[in-house]
Order: sequence, then C-alpha cells, then structure tokens
Amino acid sequence: MSAEDQKRQAAMRAVEMVEPGMRLGLGTGSTASQFVALLGERVKAGLSVICVATSTATEQLAEARGITLSTLDETPELDMTFDGADEIDGELRMIKGGGGALLREKIVAMASDRVIIMADESKMVENLGRFKLPVEVVQFGLRATLDMVEALASDCGCTGEIALRKTADGQPFVTDNGNYILECDFGSIGDPDELDEAFRFIPGVVESGLFLDICDVAIIATKDGVKLFEARRDLDEDVD
Ligand code: A5P
Repeated sequence: MSAEDQKRQAAMRAVEMVEPGMRLGLGTGSTASQFVALLGERVKAGLSVICVATSTATEQLAEARGITLSTLDETPELDMTFDGADEIDGELRMIKGGGGALLREKIVAMASDRVIIMADESKMVENLGRFKLPVEVVQFGLRATLDMVEALASDCGCTGEIALRKTADGQPFVTDNGNYILECDFGSIGDPDELDEAFRFIPGVVESGLFLDICDVAIIATKDGVKLFEARRDLDEDVD
C-alpha cells in the first residue's frame, strides 16, 4: 500500500470520529486534504459541522467541498482538530510545518479540546529531527534571528545547516502570516522540550514546528492496518 493510500486510510478512520454539530479545526497538507474531501462527502450527505481552516489552501479546499467555514474569532473554541504531521515519536511529540502552516496549525490546535493526528507509518520516528525543523520567523532582522537560533540550538546540542525556505523559483517562501521559515537540519533532537523552550527567548521567532504535548490521538495507517495511539496510554485497534 502506498503512502498516499495509507494517508487516505488514516483520514477515513478519522472522519468517523466527527459527530453532528461539532466545531472542527482543519489541518493543512496532503493527509489533511484527504480528510477534508471525506468530510465534504459527509457534509453533502447532510452532516452539519462548522470548521476553521489552518491555511488559505485548506480554506479553498473546504469551500470547494461545500463545508461551512468560520474563523477563530467567531468560533474560538473547537471540539476537534484533524491534521497531519511530518514526524511523530512514541510520546506523540511531533514536527509539523512542512506545508508552512505551522503557526495557524498550532493556534487552531491549542483552541481545540482534542487534536487528532492522521499519518502514514513513514512519519513514525524514534527521535525527532530527521525532518528539517521548520521555524517561523519575522522578516525583520532575519540574519540576527538566524544567528540566535543557531547559537541557542547549539546550546541544546542541536547543530546542522539552518537555511531560509525558498519557493521553486528561488524566492523566500512567505507564510500566510507574512513571515519567513527557517529549516533546521538537526538530524536528531535530543531534548525537544529544551529546544522548544530555547526558541521562546528569541524575539524574532514566531513559533517552531515542534508540537509537544498537543496530540491527543494519533491515527497511523500501517501495512498491518490502522492503529490508534492515545496520549499517555496506547490502544491498538486494527480496522483493515
Ligand atoms: C503543514 O504545515 C504541515 O504541518 C503538515 O501537517 C505536514 O507537513 C504533513 O503533511 P502531509 O500530510 O502532506 O504529509
């Protein structure tokens, strides 16, 4: 089964968790897109939900599927957010932001009672950091911010190339919030909590792609079926 098939399997399991009247956060990326498409089918069949999107891309997708959208200003408390991840470890700590939507994803996740992460098994890792950690930074003072990220990360034992994310035509990638993204090639992050804490000392850092203590349930599609991992206690459930 391909990674794309697994993403769909995870999204299919996730969409079953949605109940009428729920207020939902909609993540960003290819897995979240599968979820939005499946949710759209349920909406077409009569399900009533209100959703807040984590990016303009997801907003457009949801609109096209006839899903009712709201904003966090109108709907500041959400029941569940469904999103993907770039990496997820055994403690359900994650790296996110591959699609550049990490700030809105974190804001929406924190406004949600429960955060459900859907992923194919390639996203499971022993240690976070193989995926280049995205860090959203303001444009002003970029060089100074990058130097501080490098220095404080190094104090946490994280070293490696830190580069500005670029678009396909070589321009700096700009997030939906008008910021830049640094990609940190640390290889392995020994202490994600310490690194996350360190980033908070840097004024130019808006948010990092470390999502710690945020995921409530991870739905992982594997060759052996879909498995659910709940924060703190694990429960395996095969639904071939
Ligand atoms: C978007 O900014 C990310 O956090 C995505 O959730 C993450 O990159 C996973 O993307 P895929 O579902 O496309 O793998």
